[in-house]
Amino acid sequence: MMHRCLRSAPLAFAALLLATRMEAQAADPSASFHGAASMRDQLAALEKLGLPAHALAAPQGIDAQAWTASIVPGNEPTAERVALGKRLYFDTLLSQDGTVACATCHDVTRGFTDQRPVSEGIGGKLGRRNAPTTLNAALLSEQFWDGRATTVEHQAGMPILNPIEMGAESEDEVVARVAALPDYRAAFQRAYGRAPSYADLRAAIGAFERTLIFLDAPFDRYLAGTGPLGEPERRGLVLFEGKARCAGCHPLNGASPLGTDNNYHNIGVAARDKDFEGLAKRALAALAEDASEHALDRLALATDMSELGRFVVTKNRADVGAFKTEQLRNVVLSAPYMHDGSLQTLWDVMDHYNKGGEDNPFLDGGIEALALTDAEIDDVVAFLFTLTDVRFAAENERALATQEARAAKQRPFKDEDLAMRRVLGFERRVLGAK
Ligand code: HEC
Ligand code: HEC
Repeated sequence: MMHRCLRSAPLAFAALLLATRMEAQAADPSASFHGAASMRDQLAALEKLGLPAHALAAPQGIDAQAWTASIVPGNEPTAERVALGKRLYFDTLLSQDGTVACATCHDVTRGFTDQRPVSEGIGGKLGRRNAPTTLNAALLSEQFWDGRATTVEHQAGMPILNPIEMGAESEDEVVARVAALPDYRAAFQRAYGRAPSYADLRAAIGAFERTLIFLDAPFDRYLAGTGPLGEPERRGLVLFEGKARCAGCHPLNGASPLGTDNNYHNIGVAARDKDFEGLAKRALAALAEDASEHALDRLALATDMSELGRFVVTKNRADVGAFKTEQLRNVVLSAPYMHDGSLQTLWDVMDHYNKGGEDNPFLDGGIEALALTDAEIDDVVAFLFTLTDVRFAAENERALATQEARAAKQRPFKDEDLAMRRVLGFERRVLGAK
């Protein structure tokens, strides 16, 4: 068969050779790249989570009508689409060098993130941003820290083509690689009734992500009256909604199950020395040249303009340094925290908020020093540990031990003077007060 190919169509043979090489790499499920767990281990872990075969019905904790309304018309998450999307999510064949899959950075064994400050793509290239979890992402109004994509189906098409993530050369090239494999062709036919296309490929991955809903945590069982919450955790909940002012941006209730207002705020993460004005000018110039989806994606992940956050999407001054309020579901599993992965533990996160963030001219009005005591901080953190789905109970325990040990040794963001308002962040920045 190979001989015939070679004689009749050398180009097709080259393509086949490439496809076989990629297939051979992707076919070794025990191989591990970029520090991620092997796809074999990830699929075994996924099996244990007991995901539904399709996502046509609303998952527990979500209103049936809201669920149906969130589904992209024409991409109803049927079992065939979910199965295809699952295969694609774990397939390094989609990347330019055959080493990176969605699952490399959204690893099942790491809370569907990579647990690194910023992600590593093909050739070991580092991006500028921390990988959020794909758990519950289907329920977000917008995707990415700056909301530059809408649905999970829309989002899934972008990392495949980003030069520092999966680095594929073009949509056509990826589709050709996938379509070279007969069982993929059959799976696309079953899922969409036609030959593979890029639109169907990213839609299938989105369909799979719609099965990743994890909203069954001790907190939910406590609210439903079916499970207990300890004393410190209950005190933490009261603080979360009151003195610590978290619920203003992270509302957590039946109408807002993820704990995000789906909005963008500058909460002063790593903002102290940023020349936001200069960066904004450069971003506007770059976007005037090329404002395409992929140009924006590269600007957000691979340049220092990344720190402008939402501004690069809206070009609205009020959005400079503003990032999406991250969901708090399963938050324990996704350390390190924030868009740049700059905070290691939930104690660091609390120290950041307690001192009123890093002061900067674009700081959100909802951020100010909180005057929380150490005991109060411990309580809020204890509460955050109750937001982990029961299916990750073991990981939750392990993360608690790791974070506790780390926080006992170092609290680099703790600043009593700012937290207790002995000095204001503004005074420090503008007047150089100690
Ligand atoms: C090289 C690592 C890497 C790869 C590969 C990768 N991602 Fe991501 N993912 C990230 C990073 C980093 C972000 C945040 C980027 C940003 O906000 O600008 C992200 C964001 C997301 C989000 C948004 C979640 C939210 O809370 O806003 C989703 C969903 C997602 N990725 C799914 C995928 C899918 C599906 C694939 C495969 C097609 C994929 N990712 C491939 C690193 C990666
Ligand atoms: C003014 C709105 C606002 C308030 C108030 C607020 N947050 Fe946030 N939160 C955000 C935004 C925006 C981000 C992402 C910021 C970034 O990465 O630059 C975030 C990120 C986080 C993260 C990181 C999640 C991750 O996976 O990286 C945690 C944890 C968190 N907030 C917890 C809290 C707690 C606890 C409180 C109360 C003490 C609180 N937040 C108060 C808006 C807010």
